[in-house]
Amino acid sequence: MAFNNRTKINLLLESAKTDDQVTLMGWVRTKRSNKNVAFIALNDGSCIQNFQVVADPQNIPEEILKKVNTGACLKVNGKIVPSQGSGQSSELLADEIIVLGEADPEKFPIQPKRHTMEFLRENAHLRIRTNTFSAIFRVRHNLAFAVHQFFHNKGFFYIHSPIITASDAEGAGEMFRVTTLDPKNPPLTPEGKVDYSQDFFERETNLTVSGQLEGELAALALSDIYTFGPTFRAENSNTTRHLAEFWMIEPEMAFYDAEDNQNLAEEFLKYIISFALTNCGNDLEFLANRASEEEKTKKADQRSDMTLIEKLNFVVENKFIRITYTEALDILRQSTPNKKKKFTYPIEDWGMDLQSEHERYLVEKHFNKPVIITDYPKAIKSFYMKQNDDGKTVAAMDILFPGIGEIVGGSQREERLDKLEERMEELQISREEMWWYLDTRRFGTTPHSGFGLGFERMVQFVTGMANIRDVIPFPRTPGNAEF
Ligand code: 4AD
Ligand code: MG
Repeated sequence: MAFNNRTKINLLLESAKTDDQVTLMGWVRTKRSNKNVAFIALNDGSCIQNFQVVADPQNIPEEILKKVNTGACLKVNGKIVPSQGSGQSSELLADEIIVLGEADPEKFPIQPKRHTMEFLRENAHLRIRTNTFSAIFRVRHNLAFAVHQFFHNKGFFYIHSPIITASDAEGAGEMFRVTTLDPKNPPLTPEGKVDYSQDFFERETNLTVSGQLEGELAALALSDIYTFGPTFRAENSNTTRHLAEFWMIEPEMAFYDAEDNQNLAEEFLKYIISFALTNCGNDLEFLANRASEEEKTKKADQRSDMTLIEKLNFVVENKFIRITYTEALDILRQSTPNKKKKFTYPIEDWGMDLQSEHERYLVEKHFNKPVIITDYPKAIKSFYMKQNDDGKTVAAMDILFPGIGEIVGGSQREERLDKLEERMEELQISREEMWWYLDTRRFGTTPHSGFGLGFERMVQFVTGMANIRDVIPFPRTPGNAEF
């Protein structure tokens, strides 16, 4: 006989009728009891709400009720009855409780009280059982689903770009090596270097930092594609915005110029945020309350005057600001914090890279809206970006979000073979090794563009979580790969 004949709580809440006979399975959040009755809050992860189970000690043996503790897993058979208490309209009067898995109340770490985020990260294997984390991961799922729905509806194809690559798409050299060579005794070349031609792939390989280059190959065949996969960066930055393993969505479109690219990115970001607003109402409300509590602990001048839900609606309803890097630099140069020397990195000559303090000033203080910055100096951007006619800038775009900073990076691509080769030469990127990439420019090249959305930064924005480690189930950061 099959085991799973239960009703999920999210469905039960929509359809429960008095006298229905139902089976629930889930985990105990809390139990309140006296000698006449026990109230059990049961959660099965299908939604933020618990379902109240009422156990009468006359029906349910005492030795069973003793095992009903926070964290235990139960199967409950019973009848839906109108609730006497406030907080729910109906509850489940238990005929039978089967304890599927006990949880020793002395040892179970997740007690019904407020835990710090640090404590929960150390217990990442169990933190998913809290209201906060289950809400985050339901929202994360919905955002991922919305990504696929958006692109599918527009006729884009989902391409699985490789995880193991031999190239460094971003040219930043922050890669994790993939090898099966013996670290103690690797084969050496006559010059004394590690001889990777004897390695598994007969070359040096690493975990990908981006699926873009392969995405470009596919766009120049299927027109409109996107990738959505894990990417890896060995940058040693312990910030609230960086992970060593994160998920990126990278659409790539033939016949798109820089402006088409900006339009698509803006439409895409708004679409997935509104999808979450429509489909994750209860979870977002819970997370919004949580975020408001968090706001109260901040200094008055750092507090946001909008709730999380208002912030999300605001982004969906307002046009993003579009300015060039040169305009952004002028605004920053004239800004009060720059004049008062409040920036750690003062605004200097044209060509300097923008730091996150500058990005945050622009989005949070100056415009108070998402901002698309375009046309960056070519020296601070990747080799593949389309060179503008001014000889100094490239057709890049970064999208900055309030509270997050950079959420999207993208560009029109350099489709002219001679210009691309020239730039690779300058940056000492091997044209021989990248022959396959250059072939797209040799055979049937065309203007094309794309961008990358850091998925966790989007989940952070939508859930209002301050630290990126709290929006991915098992974060990978310097020193952390426990679970
Ligand atoms: O700006 P990036 O480096 O752009 C690319 O990788 C391009 N190949 C994208 C493209 O044009 N197809 O990264 C894109 C986005 C960033 O804007 C940021 O949101 C996110 O990826 N990101 C990270 N997220 C978490 N942890 C990190 N270490 C990240 N590095 C980048
Ligand atoms: Mg970037």
